[in-house]
Amino acid sequence: MKKPRLLTSIYAKFAILFLLIWWVLNSLTFGVTINIIANSFFDKLSMDHDQLMAEFRRVRTITGLVFLASAAVGTIIILIAVRSIVKPIKRLSKASKEVAKGNFDIEVKVTSADEMGQLTADFNLMTKELKNIDVLRKDFVSSVSHEFKTPITSIKGFAKLIRDNPLTDEQFSEYTEIIVNESERLSVLSSNLLKLSELDSKAIREQATVFSLDEQIRKAVLILEAAWSKREIEFDIDLEEITITGDEHLLQEVWLNLIQNAIKFSNQQGSIKIGLHQSGELAKVEITDHGIGIREEDKERIFERFFKGDKSRSQDGNGLGLVIVRKIVEMSSGKVYFESESGKGTTFIVELPQISPFHSA
Ligand SMILES: Nc1ncnc2c1ncn2[C@@H]1O[C@H](COP(=O)(O)OP(=O)(O)OP(=O)(O)O)[C@@H](O)[C@H]1O
Ligand SMILES: [Mg+2]
Repeated sequence: MKKPRLLTSIYAKFAILFLLIWWVLNSLTFGVTINIIANSFFDKLSMDHDQLMAEFRRVRTITGLVFLASAAVGTIIILIAVRSIVKPIKRLSKASKEVAKGNFDIEVKVTSADEMGQLTADFNLMTKELKNIDVLRKDFVSSVSHEFKTPITSIKGFAKLIRDNPLTDEQFSEYTEIIVNESERLSVLSSNLLKLSELDSKAIREQATVFSLDEQIRKAVLILEAAWSKREIEFDIDLEEITITGDEHLLQEVWLNLIQNAIKFSNQQGSIKIGLHQSGELAKVEITDHGIGIREEDKERIFERFFKGDKSRSQDGNGLGLVIVRKIVEMSSGKVYFESESGKGTTFIVELPQISPFHSA
């Protein structure tokens, strides 16, 4: 809504109202009094003293009555005016109580273009935003519950099978393996949720240190050895020696998540290329895989919470990795983007300033 113009503002309304009341009262009082004086007083100048005094008293009584009448008219005008100002305030107060109860489906009618109208429009905007946040929160809670429910159901099912049935050695080790994997998944999910909530609530403070980015990336590859050796993946690593100032612990999460994705979405015996180069003032990291790539329709959504593209490969993930990556990179004043072709492969690119002015994203 537009800002109210001076003439339609409450200031102007009050000013006009008081001028009007002032004018009505004055003109009633003085107009009537002067009329009486003009009509009767001057005609009776020839009266004697007693008659003159009686005439003065009559004029005084009439003047008093006119004063009373004009005060009554003024009071009525003020009451009507105040009611029209208070009414929208009462409507807003009633609506605020509804919002406090959690009812966001409420809209107060904007009836004027003054400050009150502006306040009402702002109130409506606020409830709309609150409603959106509420929908997001409910979505989030239902996604989290869903993500927890699947592994818990599977753990429970296989634990019961082990408890209630005589099993062969092979079955036993297969079922316990599933239970271990699903527990691992639950543990990663809860630690990722915790990380996200810390990043969201800005509970993480900058722990800026100077460290070698190439070493950090090499370390990330080593940490993930179990995953890539199982898939027999080859690495082509080309890292320039670059030191960077930033939060070492948080940035390690970025490389772990991106390399983990590259491994997960690569084919057996695939290859992954990791490059680190200086690009102007920026350190540029490129992680390229030749795996399944990202489908056109998924490209806009991969940074959304809980979004998982290829369901068969993303079984062991929760769709939180890239959300964490983006948050950390943006907090480090960098940016992350990707190029991908379905069926051919994907390159994730991270650009970071070498001295990262850490801020809350
Ligand atoms: N290198 C990649 N190649 C192909 N698809 C990818 C790649 N990286 C991410 N994606 C797509 O983006 C989705 C989201 O990735 P993200 O890392 O956030 O979740 P995830 O890997 O499925 O689970 P999590 O990281 O929580 O374990 C993936 O499910 C996948 O569809
Ligand atoms: Mg991931």
